Amino acid sequence: MDHFTYRNGVLHAEDVPLPAIAQAVGTPVYIYSRATFERHARVFRDGLAAIPNKHIAFAIKSNPNLAVLNVLSREGYGADVVSGGEMARALAAGVPAKDIVFSGVGKTRAELAQGLKEGIGQFNIEHEPEGVALAETAHAMGLTAPATLRVNPDVDAGTHAKISTGKKENKFGVGIDSAPEIFGRLAALPGLNLRGVAVHIGSQLFDLAPMAAAFERVGALVQTLRDAGHYITHVDLGGGLGIPYKAGEALPPSPADYGDMVARVTRDWNVHLTFEPGRVIAGNAGVLLTEVLWVKPGAAAPFVVVDAAMNDLARPAMYDAWHDFQPVIETGERMTASLVGPVCESGDTFAIGRDIGVVGPGDLAVFRTAGAYGATMASTYNSRALVPEVMVDGDRFAVVADRIPAGTIMAAERVPDWLR
Ligand code: LLP
Repeated sequence: MDHFTYRNGVLHAEDVPLPAIAQAVGTPVYIYSRATFERHARVFRDGLAAIPNKHIAFAIKSNPNLAVLNVLSREGYGADVVSGGEMARALAAGVPAKDIVFSGVGKTRAELAQGLKEGIGQFNIEHEPEGVALAETAHAMGLTAPATLRVNPDVDAGTHAKISTGKKENKFGVGIDSAPEIFGRLAALPGLNLRGVAVHIGSQLFDLAPMAAAFERVGALVQTLRDAGHYITHVDLGGGLGIPYKAGEALPPSPADYGDMVARVTRDWNVHLTFEPGRVIAGNAGVLLTEVLWVKPGAAAPFVVVDAAMNDLARPAMYDAWHDFQPVIETGERMTASLVGPVCESGDTFAIGRDIGVVGPGDLAVFRTAGAYGATMASTYNSRALVPEVMVDGDRFAVVADRIPAGTIMAAERVPDWLR
């Protein structure tokens, strides 16, 4: 459930009519609902109520805005980060260092040292040389790094190929069969407290069975490691729970269904569990507000040209993702149109031949479910401004990320003397 609803035919974010935000901030603009973030954070935690020892680390790659992190930190969420930049954001937003988990396949030695210096709670090691580097760095600093080894369980998550991570051909983790050997070598290193394993098989998962299969394999690995004399206290189960993008579509498993599955599979593990949800918390807590520029005739259906583009919301161009489109003022009439942005490539298409509420030039509309992997993936392609973000809280709202004009980006560029 979210807090983007029509009142008297006008789409609101909580108690704020969206035209008020368009007037104050302009378009395109991302709009987040604080109450929706809080609701999702609570529903996800409630789904895990049967799990006694746990830590929930929001995958901040899905939405790293400082105001968003602040809201989730107040809900007791830690942060799953994948770069030094994300680590700095989590700390700046007030997430305690001990609640930060550092994932990611290409951590640099400098980033590992940064994490050690800050005293973050857990490093998820992606392969043996990274583990050795972490151990050496920690040892040299007189520290011990709390860590898990990420394993690749070779399970097909049944999601889009570009966001699947748990098949053996994917770049993530060490093959689960070689994990005991690698674990044994890393666990012996000074500077490392290798205390468990981590897994994440993909994103936007609509089926719990592959996740359950991956977790079963991890459970068997934990037993193998314990039999070999290792002290296993932590398992990180990653994120990945899918969300509804399309009104009327079959629903994904709920956080409660997910929690039941996890409780069943991990019943006898006797470990502390970490979760890294991103999309399920952020996705439906945000919309992208846009204005219709033109309606242009097309061969099959007219093109509705909006002022948001693939540089603002990349998911349709990158993954053929569906985002519901709704006019801000309900008319009740329908039309069939293709939804496109101003960027000069045909990939800048949000929808082809879609049945939508009637819109015309000057009308406002939103792309729904844009709170996760929306603003964070924005660019300035075609020398467009970097899209701003607004947070709504009841009847008030604030700009939580400025629009960065093309001129500011240009001001950071230089023509060297030898070209003058
Ligand atoms: N943990 C790890 C190690 C991850 O790689 C990810 C996402 C998550 C947690 C959070 O997954 P979530 O709960 O959000 O599914 N840009 C793509 C999604 C990429 C996901 C990358 N990893 C999209 O727009 O669909």
